[in-house]
Amino acid sequence: MNSYDITTTDVLVVGAGLAGERAAVAAAEAGHNVIILSLIPPRRSHSSAAQGGMQASLGNAAMGKGDNPDVHMYDTVKGSDWGCEQDVARMFVETAPIAVREMAHWGVPWSRVRNEKRMYEGTEIVEDPEKVGLINARNFGGTAKWRTCYTSDGAGHTLLYAMDSIVIKLGITVHDRMEAIELIHDGERCYGVVARSLRDGELHVYIAKTTVIATGGFGRLYAASTNAIINDGGGVAMALNSGVVPLGNMEAIQFHPTGMVPSWILITEGARGEGGHLLDKDGYRFMPDYEPKYKELASRDVVSRRIMQHIRAGHGVESPYGPHVWLDIRHLGEHRINTYLREISTIARTFAGIDPVKELIPVRPTQHYTMGGIRTNKDGKVYGLDNLFSLGESACWDLHGFNRLGGNSLAETVVAGRIVGKKIAEYTNDATLEVKSNLIQEHVNKVSARMDAIRARGKNGENWVDIRKEMQMTLELDVGIFRTGEHLQHAVSKLSDLYERAQNVGLMGGGGQGADPELVNAMRLPGMLKLALTIARGALERKESRGSHFREDYPKRDDENWLKRTLAYWPEGAKLPELKYESITITEIPPGDRGYGESSGKK
Ligand code: FUM
Repeated sequence: MNSYDITTTDVLVVGAGLAGERAAVAAAEAGHNVIILSLIPPRRSHSSAAQGGMQASLGNAAMGKGDNPDVHMYDTVKGSDWGCEQDVARMFVETAPIAVREMAHWGVPWSRVRNEKRMYEGTEIVEDPEKVGLINARNFGGTAKWRTCYTSDGAGHTLLYAMDSIVIKLGITVHDRMEAIELIHDGERCYGVVARSLRDGELHVYIAKTTVIATGGFGRLYAASTNAIINDGGGVAMALNSGVVPLGNMEAIQFHPTGMVPSWILITEGARGEGGHLLDKDGYRFMPDYEPKYKELASRDVVSRRIMQHIRAGHGVESPYGPHVWLDIRHLGEHRINTYLREISTIARTFAGIDPVKELIPVRPTQHYTMGGIRTNKDGKVYGLDNLFSLGESACWDLHGFNRLGGNSLAETVVAGRIVGKKIAEYTNDATLEVKSNLIQEHVNKVSARMDAIRARGKNGENWVDIRKEMQMTLELDVGIFRTGEHLQHAVSKLSDLYERAQNVGLMGGGGQGADPELVNAMRLPGMLKLALTIARGALERKESRGSHFREDYPKRDDENWLKRTLAYWPEGAKLPELKYESITITEIPPGDRGYGESSGKK
């Protein structure tokens, strides 16, 4: 029997990225006692890897004149391929300008409008002298205006450091190296979590009036992802394991056009926003042929498909890591690269030995973001369990539908953090702290039994490394940018087998002391496979193409039958997720043409 201690608090936030920290700040400002749990020290959270910036319709940039929340709203809804919740999108676009200024007030050194002229795609950009010194914005994909506010190409880094400083200032308690493993619930209400220390392997129980999951995305289910290795979906799997919480639109997976080959580290869309081009093996700039209007800055799903289409047509550059294309920013010049793209410059030099001032960067579309996640209402309250909230990438709020615009994710973290954080604070005012010993014991026993079984199997168990690799390759090959019924069916069968095998994982090292990283990974595997199955099954059943979900056998968007959101449940003991559907809230903009050659299937 494992021993454990019990910590109580008003609000428990699982995840110390930007969304979790912003919600924690809102709750603490309202006078609640808040504890944040994090796998790693907060300043190393994956939010810090965001590069290009956050969208907010300030209208300060020369090419942002006339911008306003209505234009941002239209871009977001169109970008989502009419898959988003429009009431959520409306709240978001109205709040983003407030949030960006709030972050300036909290210390973010936004890049400012400068009194400089420059050429962009053959056009001279002349800033408005009256805007000099105000927060600037750059061009990003799928937007009618230059709206992405930035700090060179380290926006996530500066936002996270500023936010974490506020967390420290408010005296919010952070327990880092602490992994939440199991929701404590009775099928109706959430009471907190069972967590395991990644320092010494001890179990801890946290009981809260309100529990919040903000654990980010789950890109590491795929073989090639821009995500940090912590992004394996632990918090989302924990919610799914409850049996009563649904995940929304898990099949909506985003591929970023420019993951750097072969490390798959993000090379920001800001590089193309600054004027970078995509070239094929012959040095030919191919995007204008496919998307004459938007070129490299069509919506992200469209650019990723066009690159893969061009590669499939034999124009990719062969490499030991598969074919790729080139990103060319040389023409921007040393000053602009080293000022506004200095982070990717360092990344290219450090991880590929390439100097982008003089050389081309090898890139290929790479898993980047998960639009799906724990389904919540517009207040961030999770479906299925009371006293439980979720926000940020772990949630399906659902701001992004089937394709998130670049720059709308960083913005979501601080906007949802502000909006949902206030709702959490209000909800907690009326919530009670209930410590139910039997329920706690039941959930601790469940976690202990899983750990004990894996340890007992030791080297006789299934090899979790092999199963994880097979899962990642299955998603990569069968549930990627181009999807077919045949491949998706194969993925569901294969992942089901892997899920069965994952019930019997052991420890190849035989079991170590303390936290034992091998045990940590083996424990996570069944949850990862459940998420993988929700992705594959959702994609198999959705017989249309919408945003990033592109079915070669159903290439058109089908609003008549599929203007709806997938909800995936995993009842106790099930072998596959159960799928249900719910309608999408359309308050302002009826479904229309996205304006690209192929993606909407309407042209
Ligand atoms: O390309 C980027 O800088 C990524 C931005 C985003 O995913 O929002």
